[in-house]
Amino acid sequence: MAHPLSEKVVIITGASSGIGEASARALAACGSKLVLSARRRERLEELAAELEVPTLVAPADLSVVSEAKRLIEETLEHFGRIDVLFANAGIYIPGEASEGDPEAWEQLMAVNVNGVLSTARAALPHLIEQGSGDILVTSSISGHVDIPWEPVYSASKHAVQSFVHTLRRQVAPHGVRVGSIAPGMVANELWGFTDRAAIDEKVAAHEAIRSEDVAQLVVVMLSQPPHVTIRNLVVLPQKQDI
Ligand SMILES: NC(=O)c1ccc[n+]([C@@H]2O[C@H](COP(=O)([O-])OP(=O)(O)OC[C@H]3O[C@@H](n4cnc5c(N)ncnc54)[C@H](OP(=O)(O)O)[C@@H]3O)[C@@H](O)[C@H]2O)c1
Repeated sequence: MAHPLSEKVVIITGASSGIGEASARALAACGSKLVLSARRRERLEELAAELEVPTLVAPADLSVVSEAKRLIEETLEHFGRIDVLFANAGIYIPGEASEGDPEAWEQLMAVNVNGVLSTARAALPHLIEQGSGDILVTSSISGHVDIPWEPVYSASKHAVQSFVHTLRRQVAPHGVRVGSIAPGMVANELWGFTDRAAIDEKVAAHEAIRSEDVAQLVVVMLSQPPHVTIRNLVVLPQKQDI
């Protein structure tokens, strides 16, 4: 039997590394058609070259509102439909608020919050008209718990949580499903992990999960039959004390 995600057109933002890249591989294994988006075109092209499914490389800077609309338009031009928007792009800034850089915070809010809002806004008319589809947003444990060492990031993920669940109820009557996946610590480039051995060490200590662990759960969420919504999925390393 074909996988439920086979032939589905899935847009992945933040596909150039980490959770987005791992999700692209996991969804390609399910036979999905992929739109890979992020700023780093070369990374997206390298990834697309490895995947044996129809793939569109669509670079976009989601801190710029108009880029979201362009991304959705390019997808529709290329594939003629959208089944899933995986709004995953995000950046991380920890630290003391008293020492922070408000311009860097502005960029964080532009990507983590406005990027999600504007891609959803651009995709929604098509999903509503279709009467089906998913918007899955990468939130964080920091969207469920107020984390004092990352107040601005935590605020951005709380905003995303609020948007996801208000939107979820707005569009439920139209057959459109909205959910959030909220990982704890994932050892990847967001934390500066580029070395496989360093990731393996963190994972072996049960202090971090892998991008691939999150990707498998993305597939689980999106593979549910249309009458089932996984509202929030929080996934933590077994020893994360939170
Ligand atoms: N790693 C963790 O511990 C963790 C935990 C909970 C939640 N999350 C969330 O998971 C999501 C993915 O992050 P990750 O962990 O996979 O880290 P990552 O490897 O750093 O990936 C972040 C992705 O976002 C993209 N991005 C950043 N700024 C962008 C912009 N202005 N426009 C478009 N794309 C942009 C990056 O691509 P370019 O640089 O090429 O644009 C990259 O593909 C984020 O929303 C993050 O907040 C991560």
